[in-house]
Amino acid sequence: MEVEPEQAFRRAMSAFATGVTVVSAARDDGRMSGITVNSLTSVSLRPRLLLWCLGDQSERYDIFANADAWGVTVLGADEEAIAVRYSRAERESIESGEAEMFGGAPLLRAGVAQFACRTHDRRVAGDHLIIIGEVTDFRVKAGPALSFFRGAYGSVDDTRST
Ligand SMILES: Cc1cc2nc3c(=O)[nH]c(=O)nc-3n(C[C@H](O)[C@H](O)[C@H](O)COP(=O)(O)O)c2cc1C
Repeated sequence: MEVEPEQAFRRAMSAFATGVTVVSAARDDGRMSGITVNSLTSVSLRPRLLLWCLGDQSERYDIFANADAWGVTVLGADEEAIAVRYSRAERESIESGEAEMFGGAPLLRAGVAQFACRTHDRRVAGDHLIIIGEVTDFRVKAGPALSFFRGAYGSVDDTRST
C-alpha cells in the first residue's frame, strides 16, 4: 500500500532522535496545564532563547498560545509515564503537588532540566505556532534523559566522565 506523503514525512522526521519535554503554563482558572513536546530547540545564547512548536489542532492551543510565562521540563529516562500522561488533553491538569513556581513560571518537579520562560515572539508556520521563549531561569541535574526515536521512547545516558 502506498504511504501517504504526510505519513512519509512524519516517518522520516522521526529518524531525528530528540529528548522529551513537558511545557507547562497556568490557565485562566488558576490551574496548570502540561503538554508533551519534542520540538524544543535552542535558539540563542545572548539573549537566552529557545523555541517549541504548538500544533494548531491542539485542544490546549489557547492556553499555550496565549501564555506569557511558561516552563519547559526535560524528562528523565524513568519518566515515560509523565510524557504519556501529558500527551492526552483529558489528563493535562497538573496537580499542585507536582508543580512549583520557578523563575516566575509553573514547572513540574520532575525532570533532569528545567527552563522558566517568558514569551519573546510567536510566529505562525503552516499548521503550527512557533513559540520563542526568553529563558528567565534554568537548572539542570545529572542523570539519563528520556528520548524519542522512530515513534518510541528510549533513554540516553552520558557515559563520559566529565
Ligand atoms: C513524544 C511526543 C512529542 C510531541 N511533541 C509535540 C510538539 O512538539 N508540539 C505539539 O504541538 N504537540 C506535540 N505532541 C502532541 C501533544 O503532546 C498532544 O498529544 C497533542 O497536542 C494532541 O492532544 P491535544 O489536542 O489534547 O493537545 C507530542 C506528543 C508526543 C507523544
